[in-house]
Amino acid sequence: MSECRVLVTRHVFPEAVDLLRPHVALTYHDSRDGMTPEELAEAVADKHALICQLTDSVGDGILDAGAELGIVANVAVGYDNIDIAAAERRGIVVTNTPGVLTESTADLAFALLMATARRITEAERFLRAGKWRQWEIDLLSGLDVHARTLGIVGMGRIGQALARRARGFGMRVIYHSRSRLDAGLEAEFGVANIAFAELLAAADFVSVHVPLTSETKGLIGAEELRQMRTTAILVNTSRGSIVDEDALIEALRTGVIRGAGLDVFASEPDIDPRLLELDNVVLLPHIASSTVATRTTMCRIAAENVLAFAQGREPPNTVDQWRL
Ligand code: GLV
Repeated sequence: MSECRVLVTRHVFPEAVDLLRPHVALTYHDSRDGMTPEELAEAVADKHALICQLTDSVGDGILDAGAELGIVANVAVGYDNIDIAAAERRGIVVTNTPGVLTESTADLAFALLMATARRITEAERFLRAGKWRQWEIDLLSGLDVHARTLGIVGMGRIGQALARRARGFGMRVIYHSRSRLDAGLEAEFGVANIAFAELLAAADFVSVHVPLTSETKGLIGAEELRQMRTTAILVNTSRGSIVDEDALIEALRTGVIRGAGLDVFASEPDIDPRLLELDNVVLLPHIASSTVATRTTMCRIAAENVLAFAQGREPPNTVDQWRL
């Protein structure tokens, strides 16, 4: 391609732009607010490549407006913000940033598990509010993590990385996944692929690591929550809509489960106000992969995918399967 015209929809780490600038005609919308759908449709009209983030909705209309688009490079591993079928119909390649955020995301999932079990953010709020009078035998007593059972839903890269952490903490790990691990990995983790209902009933902690698709939307609803232990904690670092938020709030309010650690929500950045009133939840603003190193790498990988496209090479991270 003689001159590849690239649109970057919002602020990225500078490494991405530095990599691209010498090789392509770059339009960098260096803003944290992104673009309205109308602005995006207009800006993409003459572009060959789009670098977007999970906060950009790239549906049929945007792809239609981008008549010359050949690639959409998402700066994320999940790509439910992009209409993959519509992109496929138009022969537009979609890429993501798999692998590079696995460990950071697993770190945060484990941090959420610990924070919820040991009531860390609640305890800090208590201390900061000046409520701490004395050491008390049952002050903010939480749940043990060691020797407890972690149920991992979705045993892709991130699920496996979480399993390794859990084993280090002396937890028993069980998992449910569409595709089984090979026998070697199952032996390494000491885990077996068990039925979803069995996992829900057996786990002290349930952590979700599946992508958002039409099949996984609402995967954990009222029924599934009822199957969990009343002492169980749910951790979600994948996508908010995988859990039915209304059902979860009800379950948290009525003691159907003990607590939840959530990094993702159904309508980000809007948080259901009922969640804010609960003490048995830890709520984070979708930061699972947010370390400087990981987010920088994610930006660079998206740029590398576009650069490969611009230079007539195959982009290394074409999405071809749902795997986190
Ligand atoms: C973040 O949520 C991602 O999908 O990378």
